[in-house]
Amino acid sequence: MNILLESQRCLDRLLADESWPQMSQAARSVFEIRLRKEFPKLFAKLFALYGHRYDFYYYLQQLLASLAQAYHERPRALKLKDKQRLVDPHWYQSEDMLGMACYVDLFAGNIKQLKAKIPYLLDLGVTYLHLMPLYDSPKGDSDGGYAVSDYRKVNEQLGTVDDLKELAKALEKAGISLVLDFVFNHTSDEHRWAKAAQAGELEYQEYFHMFDDRTIPDQYEQHLREIFPQVRRGNYTWNEKANKWVWTTFNSFQWDLNYANPAVFNAITEEMLFLANLGCEALRLDALAFIWKEMGTNCENQDKAHTLIQAFNSCLQITAPAVVFKSEAIVHPDEVLKYIAKDECQLSYNPLLMALIWESLATRNTQLLSQSMRKSFAISPDCAWVNYVRCHDDIGWTFDDDVAQQLGINGHDHRQFLNQFYTGRFAGSFASGVAFAENPSNGDCRVCGSLASLAGLEKAIQTNNPQHIQHAVARILMIHSIILSIGGVPLLYSGDELGLLNDYSYQQDNSKQHDDRWVHRIGLTTQAIEQANHPQSAQYAISQGLKRLINLRQDHTVFGQSATTIVDTNNAHVFAFSRHNETGEHLLVLCNFSENPQRLNSQILHSLATQACKNIINEQLLKTHDLHIEMQPYEAMWLVNHDQ
Ligand code: GLC
Ligand code: GLC
Repeated sequence: MNILLESQRCLDRLLADESWPQMSQAARSVFEIRLRKEFPKLFAKLFALYGHRYDFYYYLQQLLASLAQAYHERPRALKLKDKQRLVDPHWYQSEDMLGMACYVDLFAGNIKQLKAKIPYLLDLGVTYLHLMPLYDSPKGDSDGGYAVSDYRKVNEQLGTVDDLKELAKALEKAGISLVLDFVFNHTSDEHRWAKAAQAGELEYQEYFHMFDDRTIPDQYEQHLREIFPQVRRGNYTWNEKANKWVWTTFNSFQWDLNYANPAVFNAITEEMLFLANLGCEALRLDALAFIWKEMGTNCENQDKAHTLIQAFNSCLQITAPAVVFKSEAIVHPDEVLKYIAKDECQLSYNPLLMALIWESLATRNTQLLSQSMRKSFAISPDCAWVNYVRCHDDIGWTFDDDVAQQLGINGHDHRQFLNQFYTGRFAGSFASGVAFAENPSNGDCRVCGSLASLAGLEKAIQTNNPQHIQHAVARILMIHSIILSIGGVPLLYSGDELGLLNDYSYQQDNSKQHDDRWVHRIGLTTQAIEQANHPQSAQYAISQGLKRLINLRQDHTVFGQSATTIVDTNNAHVFAFSRHNETGEHLLVLCNFSENPQRLNSQILHSLATQACKNIINEQLLKTHDLHIEMQPYEAMWLVNHDQ
């Protein structure tokens, strides 16, 4: 079949008997141009997913009507943004970009109050704000908002949809891009679709994966991982009301949607476009690896998951092209890369860099980090990494076992060591972390803890050891220096800029105590902000040091659109990479992951192609004809040509 020809035929038919909202001539013509351009792609994807169904054409018709309706409803200001972004599609690669992720309530109280915090964000240099899910969700445990009961309603405690629209406008005015979650793998069991399914409506039971008995679940189960084994074994939950087993990859109250059903694709597209029309500029695709189920596989990263995401992306290109996707694939590094493409996810978390930064801190050895980045850092020049050191989730040790093997590291044993190290079970560890999701069957676990506590500040303060405090501060700044310079959008996790320590109060809260991720979901208090204003405090050193790095980044275009090369330092303690851009600017970053001073041969400076260079962090000059570069414990150097 000639898919291009068929898609054109199909579109002509669809356009002939469309029933769309009345649009102005101008609006209609923009919509039609985009539709004609994108339709062949969209058609091909949907045909691959649903072309075998007798009612395929019906669902296409419905989908086009939804796209037209959403375009019709898209506010003028956002249509203007669409035009701007189409001219400047690589906006997220700029050196000005700085992200922050926060919970509305923990950061500000509610959405209205968050507006008043914009100056705080601007002071830090934030240009991208990811608000953790703020939609209507079940009372008590809602997986931190990741169980959504209504995508079109804001959680009452946080405000209203109108508050959110206001906030989006205020952020846009301040030059901050709003990022929202698109939680599309599952809904909560209180979503109206799930309620209808529980009431026995077949149409809605088909929205989910529901089974009368264990026969099919047991077959799937043979190949599935368990994500939260501490709260429930297996991937299914018995629902009394419906008298059926329901597929629940995460918590029992999070029901996986059934994307084999085109009605689900269409319905979720409408929700997605509603979010786009609120004024966000990126959607974070939550748990995207899990959206397609295929018997006999682990039901993660399936080909059709990619097809689905590309189809969603096409819908955005037609209706709201200013909005980009951010992939949240916390899976094997090779699989992470597959989601990153201009027509799939333009942005992606970089979980490999995150995990290996912590791995190198524990081992003081950067070989696995360097080797892994050499293999997996390069992505399409149209796309960008979102580099982070901590987020609201646990740390899982997602490195490639083959790469580890080449370095003589046994992946399984190494993960065990890292878990021991970061949960304080390894003698001499600086970290204060908490084990998460321990699996009684295989002993696996993951790690929770705030950035500062994992980096040693909590222990150092407890033992009142000035040198350890100094080391912890230096570690924190050094690891931030990497995410700020390696290429992509650096993403801070709210509170880390002030060095907040673990908050153990969740252990007293019934709705939280079974989920240790709450240890690092910490309220931002005025005391914390004040403490960071005290020049003697570690928190002051962290927040001032971080601000300085951010300002330096924003002052040098080489931190923006440039190529990155991992550099061999001949010293396992030191991680290095170089960057250069089209205007001939060079940057060399050196990071000492050990608490001892390190010495490097200054040959390494030759990549800068200059006689003299400057470490812009401390303004020190270095000469290429000096024999050695001396690095302080946990020192980070940002070296540029002296004449730059
Ligand atoms: C994502 C979120 C995590 C949540 C899960 C289920 O991975 O980051 O917090 O538990 O999805 O929605
Ligand atoms: C697993 C999932 C990831 C999720 C996390 C939550 O690592 O792959 O998507 O964020 O669990 O703990």
